[in-house]
Amino acid sequence: MTATPSLGQDTVLRHSAVLGLGHHRASRIVPNSEIVDAIDSSDEWIQQRSGIIERRWATPEETVQMMSVSAAREALDDAGILPGQLDCVIVATVSHMMQTPAVATAVAHELGSTAAAFDISAACAGFCHGLALASDLVRGGSATHVLVIGVERLSDITDPTDRGTAFIFADGAGAAVVGPADDAGIGPVVWGSDGEQFDLIRQKEDWREVVAAGSPGMPHLVMQGNAVFRWAAYSMAKIAEEALSRTGITAADLDLFVPHQANMRITDAMVRSMKLPDHVTVARDIAHQGNASAASIPLALRQLVLDGEARSGDLALLIAFGAGLSYAAQVIRVP
Ligand SMILES: CC(C)(COP(=O)(O)OP(=O)(O)OC[C@H]1O[C@@H](n2cnc3c(N)ncnc32)[C@H](O)[C@@H]1OP(=O)(O)O)[C@@H](O)C(=O)NCCC(=O)NCCS
Repeated sequence: MTATPSLGQDTVLRHSAVLGLGHHRASRIVPNSEIVDAIDSSDEWIQQRSGIIERRWATPEETVQMMSVSAAREALDDAGILPGQLDCVIVATVSHMMQTPAVATAVAHELGSTAAAFDISAACAGFCHGLALASDLVRGGSATHVLVIGVERLSDITDPTDRGTAFIFADGAGAAVVGPADDAGIGPVVWGSDGEQFDLIRQKEDWREVVAAGSPGMPHLVMQGNAVFRWAAYSMAKIAEEALSRTGITAADLDLFVPHQANMRITDAMVRSMKLPDHVTVARDIAHQGNASAASIPLALRQLVLDGEARSGDLALLIAFGAGLSYAAQVIRVP
């Protein structure tokens, strides 16, 4: 009798870690005063309900591909990795305007890489999903170095007259290089979805409906803000705690808390219900960036590093949630 072939499967996993971070902040600074007239609102209302003072919107030149490449180059430099060393490029986005091909292939090509390249769609949780995939690809041996990018141009699909969304969404890109490491640098992911809430944040019409209606514009995002707020504030603290416990640490061991920059009040609610100790630095990038969906966590994390608030070796809890509804959380060590 012959032995069952192993099919090349290695049973020994190695450690993975984030080796470098990069970001591209869309360059147009849009203060609340620029958008309030179209939604009959005020700077005071927007700041009080969302914490947003101003947001970043892309110029025409700042395409999804351009911002991705810019963030990726910074992350590769930070990691000391050349594009030719990449085995996989994962782009998380919901605002690349082509159904196919994946923008990841164009990004890889522009960087000078022929790595496997694909896009994922998990909305605001996209970057954390990408990080989980990258970590497992490296640990399992399918890849040595993986580039993960979260990128959005939500200004293209935001209705400037919609009171519930016009002041929230923003543009930008963030990137991370994941590779092998001597010590564990990325904890287990806690992720899931609640498709019963599919309608809470969504593209208003699908492309067939847009064409059938002869619509002159893009299908915009619509959101039931109240319901999203309740869901996130109630459910996400539990997911964050599960990510800590699966990593084998407590909130007291954390240095940084980097939640999806959805809304400052949701962040505050999570900090309260997790009883985060005072020494934990909380990312509050939304104040000057707005909600850049898949880009929001890597943008916020990179900014903490640049500002000297995050140091190499720090433990950071990442947690993201958004349309789907989908969510993902993990603890990482800052590179
Ligand atoms: C969007 C959000 C800020 C709206 O705040 P809200 O308190 O839920 O607002 P409501 O829709 O209940 O409206 C409350 C009041 O504000 C008014 N209002 C709504 N939008 C307004 C705006 N843009 N400007 C001024 N007033 C506004 C309403 O008319 C209502 O007035 P009324 O009390 O006189 O009837 C809030 O729901 C939220 O933060 N949701 C989470 C969104 C989020 O994080 N999304 C990202 C997920 S990835």
